[in-house]
Amino acid sequence: MTAAGWKRTHSCGELRPEHVGREVTLNGWVDARRDHGGIYFLDLRDRYGVTQVTLEESLADSVALSPETVLSVRGQVRARDERNVNPDRATGAIELQATSVQVLSPARVPPFEIRDDLDTAVEIRLRHRYLDLRRPSMLGNLVHRARFVSAMRRAFDAEGFVEVETPVLTKATPEGARDYLVPSRVHAGKFYALPQSPQIFKQLLMCAGVDRYYQVARCFRDEDLRADRQPEFTQLDMEMSFVEEEDVFEAWERVLVATLRDALGYELPVPIPRLRYDEAIERFGLDKPDTRFGLELVRVDEWAASSDFKVFSGAVASGGHVVGLRVPGEHELSRKEVQALEAHVKEYGAKGLAWWKAAREGGAGPLARFVGDGAGDLMERLGAADGDLLLFVADRASVAFRAMGELRNLLGRKLGLIPEGQWNFLWVTHFPMFDHDEESGTWSPSHHPFTAPEDPDLGGDDPDLGSLRSRAYDLVLNGWELGSGSVRIHDPAIQQRVFRLLGISEEEQRAKFGFLLEGLSFGAPPHAGFALGLDRVTALTRGLDSIRDMIAFPKTTSAADLMCEAPSEVPGDLLAEVHVRSIAPADPA
Ligand code: AMO
Ligand code: AMP
Repeated sequence: MTAAGWKRTHSCGELRPEHVGREVTLNGWVDARRDHGGIYFLDLRDRYGVTQVTLEESLADSVALSPETVLSVRGQVRARDERNVNPDRATGAIELQATSVQVLSPARVPPFEIRDDLDTAVEIRLRHRYLDLRRPSMLGNLVHRARFVSAMRRAFDAEGFVEVETPVLTKATPEGARDYLVPSRVHAGKFYALPQSPQIFKQLLMCAGVDRYYQVARCFRDEDLRADRQPEFTQLDMEMSFVEEEDVFEAWERVLVATLRDALGYELPVPIPRLRYDEAIERFGLDKPDTRFGLELVRVDEWAASSDFKVFSGAVASGGHVVGLRVPGEHELSRKEVQALEAHVKEYGAKGLAWWKAAREGGAGPLARFVGDGAGDLMERLGAADGDLLLFVADRASVAFRAMGELRNLLGRKLGLIPEGQWNFLWVTHFPMFDHDEESGTWSPSHHPFTAPEDPDLGGDDPDLGSLRSRAYDLVLNGWELGSGSVRIHDPAIQQRVFRLLGISEEEQRAKFGFLLEGLSFGAPPHAGFALGLDRVTALTRGLDSIRDMIAFPKTTSAADLMCEAPSEVPGDLLAEVHVRSIAPADPA
């Protein structure tokens, strides 16, 4: 073989019956190898597929063909016998009869087989992510993501948006998490923060007259990680000038229709339904409702107020709620299963789960003896028939709705109520302006502090912060928050008022947000925007239940990269150079 003779003429997913008789060269990894008494079969794999190669014994013996070896195989395309055709494989009608084989790169025995159907420990997969990514499903994830993002870019370009890059070494933008800090060498004792989002910069781009901005933006947040959260993740971030809520919704609907059609061939029905926050909580218990199934919540305060069950009447008397849901009788749940449901609501702070197997006369369960004459009334409120299971949590609003909302999601999955392959997008609107932290007694912005209030007077001189509504909105898909946005404050006086209500002193305002306040004071257009979590939307549209496998090199739940072993210690002289000394106890290892 000549020096360049190893280069492929086709990919491993390309050959079809029309190539029969052709001399071709394939490059790829040894996927599997079978010995059929003198004839060797070997599967050669690359990103595009797998092709079966047959080798005479002498040729097979001439090189080491262990799994994951990188080969160049030259040979002739042959049709397979009728009975050997593999209909599950795109190349299943042909095989390559090898005439020469060259090892391009030998491979050590991999720590796990490169197969989609193996349940390999996640730590091992992450430590050898380059091997994990060789699996066809994982490469498929990367391709899915790339197609999605590129289609979305085209859609924004077509709408006249301008992609602008904003800094990664910057100053803190508050999105509710801790910042990742980078020490400055030149400015002793000073630090950059990595952006939690490009929020302030995109608002200043509106002040600059960019009018329509977007960016595929990397964001960094030091927060507790879960299946839908990574410490660094990507937003499709955007902002528009001279607009209000509906303009943002409509722009996104056009972009989503184009993206989903272009990348996935899916026709998204628009307009996407809109639901007010209050109604979302009342009916589904959560601000990101999964609307693919029923089991809606019912508040039974009027009934509960006069109940003999003190837990119920007491909750209502102290301003809380009793929230119930009805499991139709056709779904038989054992006592043990109901106990598991109780354990689930307790995870969300509920004190218990009261239940009643409903019946006009008596019924069963802990609530049965309290129902008495009110049985018919209670059943009517929940639309229940004899034999239905009614479940209740009594608590303050935040706990009762949240716990029942999470219970509803669990039941939806457990009872098989969620239709496969359905995508329910939803705009949730009219969020509260501020959230109260019961432990610390402090108020924080429910979205971020740059979100416009519905009432520009912010409730006047003595506002009830809990009742104020904002002009924030979320996009929800199948119970996941996909993205958030809001109409922004473009009046510096209102912005300062919001800072004050949040307990941010004048001095702190100037230190942290002085440049924003200044920017708003030189003629700021009314503006609004939104950021879509790209890891989430691509994971969900690929049918994954975690964003981890939508990210080529993700971190563990403790924010570590097991492959390159980041974070890692840094030699003392490098720390000194950036004017930092560590007070961490020495690593016992
Ligand atoms: P927000 O903080 O809601 O809004 O973020 C927008 C979207 O980003 C995604 N997201 C994450 N994805 C993965 N891992 C994380 N740790 C993570 N955190 C957030 C979610 C979320 O809905 N500046 C505002 C947007 C705006 O107002 O325009 C912002 O960042 O999908
Ligand atoms: P107890 O009186 O604590 O034994 O509780 C009797 C029943 O009421 C049990 O089934 C508990 O799970 C339930 N229960 C207790 N507290 C609450 C509550 N706050 N909301 C709903 N059910 C509760």
